Amino acid sequence: MRLSLRFIVPLLLVLAAFAYAVLPLVDDLTLRWFVRDLDIRSTLIANTVQESARELIQADDRAALLRVLKRITEDERMYAAAYCGLSGAPAISAGTLPAVVQCSSLESFTGEVGHVLTSAHGPLLVSVRPLVTDGTPDGSLVLVHDMSFVTRRSQETRRYVFYLLVGLGGIVALLTVVIAQLSWRGWEQGMRALLRGEMLLRPSDTPDMPEFRPIARDLRELIRDIESEHRPREEDGFTWSPETLRTVLHHELRGQEVIVVSNREPYIHVRQGDSIEVRRPASGLVTALEPIMRTCSGTWIAHGSGNADRAVVDRKDRIGVPPEAPGYQLRRIWLTAEEESGYYYGFANEGLWPLCHIAHVRPTFRTSDWEQYVRVNRKFAQAVVDESTARDPIVLVQDYHFALLPRMIRNVLPAATIITFWHIPWPNPEAFAICPWREELLDGLLGSSTLGFHTQFHCNNFVDTVDRQLEARVDRETFTVSYRRALSAVKRYPISIEWPPPPDLVAKSVAQCRAEIRARHHLDRDHAVAVGVDRLDYTKGIEERFRAVERLLDRRPEWVGRFTLVQVAAPTRGTIDDYRHYHERVTAIAARINERFSRAAAPPIILRSVHHEPEEVYEYYRAADVCVVSSLHDGMNLVSKEFVAARDDERGVLVLSQFTGAARELPEAIIINPYDVDEFASALHAALKMPEREQRARMRLMRSLVREFNVFRWAGRMLIDAAGMRNRDRLLDRVKTSNAADASEPASARPA
Ligand code: F6P
Repeated sequence: MRLSLRFIVPLLLVLAAFAYAVLPLVDDLTLRWFVRDLDIRSTLIANTVQESARELIQADDRAALLRVLKRITEDERMYAAAYCGLSGAPAISAGTLPAVVQCSSLESFTGEVGHVLTSAHGPLLVSVRPLVTDGTPDGSLVLVHDMSFVTRRSQETRRYVFYLLVGLGGIVALLTVVIAQLSWRGWEQGMRALLRGEMLLRPSDTPDMPEFRPIARDLRELIRDIESEHRPREEDGFTWSPETLRTVLHHELRGQEVIVVSNREPYIHVRQGDSIEVRRPASGLVTALEPIMRTCSGTWIAHGSGNADRAVVDRKDRIGVPPEAPGYQLRRIWLTAEEESGYYYGFANEGLWPLCHIAHVRPTFRTSDWEQYVRVNRKFAQAVVDESTARDPIVLVQDYHFALLPRMIRNVLPAATIITFWHIPWPNPEAFAICPWREELLDGLLGSSTLGFHTQFHCNNFVDTVDRQLEARVDRETFTVSYRRALSAVKRYPISIEWPPPPDLVAKSVAQCRAEIRARHHLDRDHAVAVGVDRLDYTKGIEERFRAVERLLDRRPEWVGRFTLVQVAAPTRGTIDDYRHYHERVTAIAARINERFSRAAAPPIILRSVHHEPEEVYEYYRAADVCVVSSLHDGMNLVSKEFVAARDDERGVLVLSQFTGAARELPEAIIINPYDVDEFASALHAALKMPEREQRARMRLMRSLVREFNVFRWAGRMLIDAAGMRNRDRLLDRVKTSNAADASEPASARPA
């Protein structure tokens, strides 16, 4: 509308000014035309009555002359007609002669053209015609025409001209706006198409104009620069939020729907007696992706592992989540016991998990597990195809459960943008080489447009592995792998958490959390508390943590009875021997240490091996003096970031293993080697003794990092990069098509 007004208003103003200037000219012109016409008419009348008038004058028959004059004035345009003799005596007149017209002074009215007089009646035209007999003058005939009709006509003309101009203005404005809109839209579409490489490179558009291609390229670059102005820029100091992520989706990927695939589902329905409860699993992957899906909506495809999951889905195995305010669809995939055992427990968690983590647990590879892994990947690929409404969906494939999925999706949906994120470390080429299906795994992963890892080190390992295992071209400058005539980008995207943390998780004050947690565990109000929050996984270094607590109490007895580590440990992968044994070992070590210090006022370790919902976990984070993360190997570790996000009081100390991805981002934590029990014990002591000022300084730095590098940035960066690749791929396709068309043209048709 604003655009239309911009065209219409000036146009109407110009037309009005034009009308204002032109109308007096039109009036003048028409008046002159009428004067000439009436003058000719006067000559005609004079010629017609000439003869009879002369005879009557010579016969001095004044009465008859008056009758002739009266007949003349019967014409509606005639105002008066008169005869003036040569003597200058008053006229014989029919009608009223204007006072200025006197027979004695007719000279001023003689001439070729009549004279226009103004009168109360309106304008009058006075024409004087001589009466002549054989060359001798007999007097003059004075004819006065009533010109008031000219004024009426002029007013009518003005009205019509006004309507005409208004109508014309409206039509011209409308046409201008329509044409402007069409051309703007066409221009915009053209530019966008150009940006995507869809114009000027299409053979039909430029069959013989290869000279335009450089211009097209320059224009694309220019437009990309302009568009990138709208893109959120980190250097501008903004914080990534759901809103910026939505902007990225809208601008870079034209609002495409997002499909996420992971093994673990974000909400699990479990039966509790007669009712059904919703649980949120202990999973870093879920913690990170759930807020992304809430922002982007779309569909999350995952294994339905809860015993009440089937009871709550619709006919298409879908359910809207989060349960309290559904914002996206969860599509559940059902696995048979055999499939779950071979794919999840077997190949993924007894094979790939220990293969990728340096935790000194031997990987087990069974052909039967591999077969189930392939089968389940196929099942999920089919689900992606079923759920996708577009030919080029954005698919976010998560983790080591789905290494084959990208290729399977690519085979059916070649235009899909597939972003695969590997949430665990990638081992070095020698370590990976022991996997019997290494080539199949790499081939599957290279079906992705983008492959993400938490650290550059893992990206390097992956690229080295591809270089060693496949016939692929690895570009170490751009970190891309060219394989099977397609390009995959390999990039570091350190995962993170939602910022700010959900308000309900930090609603209870730190003071209240401190008091309640200590009361719950029968500890004094000023008892020193450290917290550990992990899945009961052998990679998490929980045994090492307990031994460090024991060493601390041995070396610093002042902490005995005054310090407790509360270990929140979520049982996980319980059917796997290594996990069951680990659980048993951890429980036994805690019991042994507590037994050693059983005379103390409080136990050194409180082990809570049950699932905790996020609200309880955050209560522990806020209540603790120290948070301990001592993984032996961890892709990132989001517990460390959650602890930092939970401490809006800027208190608390993080003790963090150097073998986590997080250690690269949070150097203000006390960094430890979990294998070095003495160093670990000293770190615990230093953390417990750290002055408040130092705690605040470190916590502030860590909080600003997590705020800036939050999970919306993680997803946003991946989507921006994937969109860039998507545009590049399209452009290359056009170029290929264009070249193919050129090549297939008969030589004679090509310009010499
Ligand atoms: O850390 C790897 C990972 O798959 C995470 O992505 C996830 O948070 C965690 O393991 C959970 O494991 P599971 O789904 O097997 O319980």
